[in-house]
Amino acid sequence: MALFITFEGGEGCGKSTQAKALWRKLVRLGIPAELTHEPGGTALGKELRYLLKRKRQDRLSPEAEVLLFAASRVQLVNEVIRPSLQEGKVVICDRFADSTAVYQGYGRGIDLATIKAINDMATAGIKPHLTILLDMPADKGLSRKNARNHDRFEAEDITFHHRVREGYRQMAAQEPARWMVIDATLPRNQLKTIIWNKVNQLLQAMQAYSGKTVPK
Ligand code: TYD
Repeated sequence: MALFITFEGGEGCGKSTQAKALWRKLVRLGIPAELTHEPGGTALGKELRYLLKRKRQDRLSPEAEVLLFAASRVQLVNEVIRPSLQEGKVVICDRFADSTAVYQGYGRGIDLATIKAINDMATAGIKPHLTILLDMPADKGLSRKNARNHDRFEAEDITFHHRVREGYRQMAAQEPARWMVIDATLPRNQLKTIIWNKVNQLLQAMQAYSGKTVPK
């Protein structure tokens, strides 16, 4: 029942909470599931996450930034995502290649075709079946974070975060079959239900195809 689900959204949108809730629900139902995140999820990814998020004296060039995210992704795909999908698990990833298109493309201004080529190499053709966008106004999401502890991305100008939000909305509109856009300002439990209904629908459809039974 291999299924690859990614969560995307701007700062403070609540996607990590929802990704975890979905993973817990699947595990409770006895459905093999793996929860991972980007940047991170592997030993190398953890180191790169630290390098990418901490505030720096030097200016990390946007190109270097893209390549560091891509390096983390290659490792995650090879060590976690591909093997888990091959074992027939549901893989849930908190951010994936779309984050690079949006943050480094729409946000930093790197050409989207270049990012696509880098992402294609990093993911080696692995694409989410479903991408859940938790959409909310940038200032609202940021206000949920403690300003004193802002990391390098959270500390970006608000116009950067507006571009990120717009980028997500444009990407979702271009590929509506893969993306589900949800209003992230809805109550947490309502979001959980909306997400579960969609995932359950996908699992039931796959069950019909594979002949395996999925508990409701
Ligand atoms: P994280 O603490 O995981 O933030 P969040 O909880 O919002 O997911 O930090 C990841 C940061 O890295 C986040 O600000 C988005 C950014 N990012 C990119 O700029 N490009 C990428 O490809 C990825 C995966 C993340």
